[in-house]
Amino acid sequence: MDHDQKNAAKATDAATQAAAALSAQRQQREQQANAAGRAEVLVRDVPVRIFHWTLVVAVSAGLLTGFFGEENLLDIHVLAGQAVAVLVLFRIAWWFVGGRYSRLSAYPLSPRKALDHLGNVIRGRSPLTAGHNPLGAFMIITLIGLLLLISITGVITLGGEENQGPLKAFVPYWLGDAAGEVHEVLAIILLFAIAGHLGGVFMETVVFRHPLLRAMTRGTMPVPEEQAERGRFILRGLFVFGVVLVFFTGFWNVLEATPDTRWRPISNAEIYKANCADCHHAHHPSLRTADMWERIMQGLDDHYGEDASIDEKTARRILAFLQRNDALHFDTEAAVRLGRAKTPDLRISSATWWRLRHEQLPEAIYRTPKVGSKANCDACHLDAETGRFDDVNIRVPEEARQAVSGNS
Ligand code: HEC
Ligand code: HEC
Repeated sequence: MDHDQKNAAKATDAATQAAAALSAQRQQREQQANAAGRAEVLVRDVPVRIFHWTLVVAVSAGLLTGFFGEENLLDIHVLAGQAVAVLVLFRIAWWFVGGRYSRLSAYPLSPRKALDHLGNVIRGRSPLTAGHNPLGAFMIITLIGLLLLISITGVITLGGEENQGPLKAFVPYWLGDAAGEVHEVLAIILLFAIAGHLGGVFMETVVFRHPLLRAMTRGTMPVPEEQAERGRFILRGLFVFGVVLVFFTGFWNVLEATPDTRWRPISNAEIYKANCADCHHAHHPSLRTADMWERIMQGLDDHYGEDASIDEKTARRILAFLQRNDALHFDTEAAVRLGRAKTPDLRISSATWWRLRHEQLPEAIYRTPKVGSKANCDACHLDAETGRFDDVNIRVPEEARQAVSGNS
C-alpha cells in the first residue's frame, strides 16, 4: 500500500515535471515566435472570407444604386439585393455549420465581456484573439440583422410599390410604400453601422496592430497552433451555399409565378384607342376613377380647348370600358397615387404627386416635338400603355433633353 502510494506520488511528480517542461518549452516557443514574428495559423475558413468580400461588393452596389441611381437602375438594385439576401442567408446557416470561429456559438456575446473589452480598449489594450472579440461579434450580428431586415423590406417594397418580385400578388400598395420608408431608414442606419465596423477594424489594425485584414484575406493570424481553425471547409461551404441558392431561387420564382390580382393586362381597348389616341396617347384607364372618366366623357365638346366629341353610342361604350378598368380596379403606384387623386381640371398631370415626381424636368421639355404635351406619358414611359409605369421603363427622349438644354 505504502509502496503503491509512493509510486503514484512519483508518477504525479514526473507528470508535473513533464508538464512544466512542456509549458516552459511552449513559453520559449512563443517567445521565439513573438520575437521572430509568430508563425501564421489558419483562423478563418475559406467560405467566410469569400462571403465577406462578395458581400462588400453586393452591398456597395445596392447602396450606390439605391442612393444615387436613376430610377431605371432598379433592376441592378434588385439584383444586388438578391445577392445580399442569398449571402446573408448563407452566413446565417454558416453560423451553425461553419468553421470553429464562424459559428455563432463561438461568439463571446455577453454584454459584460463587451464592456470589459471596451474598458481594455480605452486603456489602450486589446488582446489578439483568434476568434472575434466581443465588440466585433456584436457588430457582425448588427450588420447581418440589418441586412436581413433591409432585404425583407426591399422585397415587400418591390412587391407593393412596383408590382414585381415574389410578393407582388400579396402586398398592397400602401404596405409596400410603408416598407419602402423603413427600407430607406434602415439603409441609412446601415451606413452608420458600416462606419462603426470600419472604425473598429481601423482601431484593431492600426492602433493595436492586429492583422485583421490578413485574417480576412489569407485567413491567418499569429496565434498559438492550438487555436487554429479546424479546416478550410471549402466543400462544405459550396454545399451550404448551393442549398441556400436553390431554396432562395425556388422561393422567388414559385411566388413570382402566382397569378397577380393587383395588376393585369387590359384587353378590348380597340374602340378606346381608335377614338382617344389622336391628339395624345390613350391614357391607361387606371389613371382616373369611374366618376372622373364620366365627367371627362361628358365634356368632350369642350375638351381642354378642343372639340373631341364623338357619337353618343361610342362614347357610352368607351366610358363602360374605362369604368371597368378604372383606378379602383388596380393596385399600382400609378393607380393609387395618380388615378385616385381628384383634380379640379380632371387632368392626371395636375395631381400633386405627379408634379412632385416630375419636378426635376423643365416645363419646356413637354413642348418639344418628341414629347408634345404632359398628356403624352408614353413619350418617356415605355410601358405607359400597360399602366405599370415601371422605373426601368423610364426614358426621357435624348432629342427632347438636348432641345431643352440647347434652348437655355
Ligand atoms: C382633338 C384632340 C383630342 C382628342 C380626340 C382627345 N383629347 Fe384628351 N386632351 C386633348 C388636349 C389638347 C388635352 C390637354 C393636353 C395638355 O394640356 O397638354 C387633353 C388632355 C386629356 C386628359 C388629361 C391628360 C393630363 O395631362 O393629365 C385626359 C385624361 C384626356 N385628354 C382624355 C381623353 C379621352 C378619354 C379621349 C377620348 C374620348 C380624348 N382625351 C380625346 C385633346 C384631345
Ligand atoms: C418628359 C418625360 C415624361 C413625361 C411626358 C411623363 N413622365 Fe412620368 N416620369 C418621368 C421621369 C423622368 C420620372 C422619374 C422621376 C424620378 O426620378 O423620381 C417619372 C416618374 C413617373 C412615375 C413614378 C414612377 C415610379 O415608379 O417611381 C409615374 C407613376 C409617372 N411618372 C407617371 C406619368 C404619367 C401618368 C404621365 C402622363 C400623364 C407621365 N408620367 C408623363 C418622365 C416623364
